[in-house]
Amino acid sequence: MKNLKILFFISFFNIIAKSEVGYGTFPLKGNDCIQAIEHAIKLGYRIIDSATRYGNLDAIGTAIAKFNRNDLFIISKVWPDSYAPEALRKDLFATLEKLKTGYLDNYLLHWPYSKVAIEPTLHEMQELKTQGLIRTIGLSNPTVNHMKRALQCGVKIDYVQIEMHPEFCDFQLLKFCNKNSIRVQAWAPLGVGRLSRDPFLLNIGKKYNKTAAQVALRWIVQHNCIPLPASKNVAHMQENIDIENFALSKQEMNLINRKARSGKRQRFTFKDPVEFADEFDFSFEECWPIK
Ligand SMILES: NC(=O)c1ccc[n+]([C@@H]2O[C@H](COP(=O)([O-])OP(=O)(O)OC[C@H]3O[C@@H](n4cnc5c(N)ncnc54)[C@H](OP(=O)(O)O)[C@@H]3O)[C@@H](O)[C@H]2O)c1
Repeated sequence: MKNLKILFFISFFNIIAKSEVGYGTFPLKGNDCIQAIEHAIKLGYRIIDSATRYGNLDAIGTAIAKFNRNDLFIISKVWPDSYAPEALRKDLFATLEKLKTGYLDNYLLHWPYSKVAIEPTLHEMQELKTQGLIRTIGLSNPTVNHMKRALQCGVKIDYVQIEMHPEFCDFQLLKFCNKNSIRVQAWAPLGVGRLSRDPFLLNIGKKYNKTAAQVALRWIVQHNCIPLPASKNVAHMQENIDIENFALSKQEMNLINRKARSGKRQRFTFKDPVEFADEFDFSFEECWPIK
């Protein structure tokens, strides 16, 4: 009986722990996307990340309709061309319609964008939250300066989503988020796949019989952040969620931190498909115009 209780506790713990690894859906579309998400949910993923920009909300809606909505945590992001309050509301309504759901668990501004004032945008998000259409509010790709400016608006920010992996981490922002009770979601947690072949991570993983990808994801989870790995390969999906039964030592965490501290983030210029330059280097005053 005692053994049964322990077994139940371990299985329950695993379900909770697995739910802390999210599933990234870019660049999946159409049937590939529907099938991949069905697999992911069956394997134990509960957090699904998407965005208007990914063009896959319809497919995600079809996939999640087969499961209990209350078990899932659905994230979407609005693109900067819809930050004006009316456009933002329109984007959310279109998002909910495509996802065939009545609410989003988390709605984020996809990129900081200095050409639209932040106050009216965040107040509109707050209104959508009050109406129960979104459960939490987030900013994607901010720096500490963006966060300081956003928090001045008096709207609770629940999440940030940032590039984070063993080759790059903005530790200053991580510290700021911890201090302000903001949870961090990590995009490109495997460095867009290249870290699965990283000799340094492979070597750490040997001790635990884990892969380099699992070490990278575990490092993120031990920072109390939520990794959002993307994969259309079922074996990789399984591998990426099986990270709950080992723990990196303090020394290993510090070694990976050192590697991440010395790395460089992905940068965007007007030539890139995002069609605007990133604003990571903006000062506090440059971040967003005063209303
Ligand atoms: N907020 C933002 O601005 C932003 C920006 C970029 C991405 N995102 C989000 O973050 C998610 C993840 O980012 P990402 O797709 O750029 O990078 P990623 O998750 O670091 O890498 C995805 C790549 O890694 C490969 N992979 C996955 N698991 C693997 C494993 N266990 N072993 C070997 N290879 C593996 C995948 O190939 P296979 O399919 O073959 O497994 C895929 O090519 C996106 O899907 C999106 O939801 C957000």
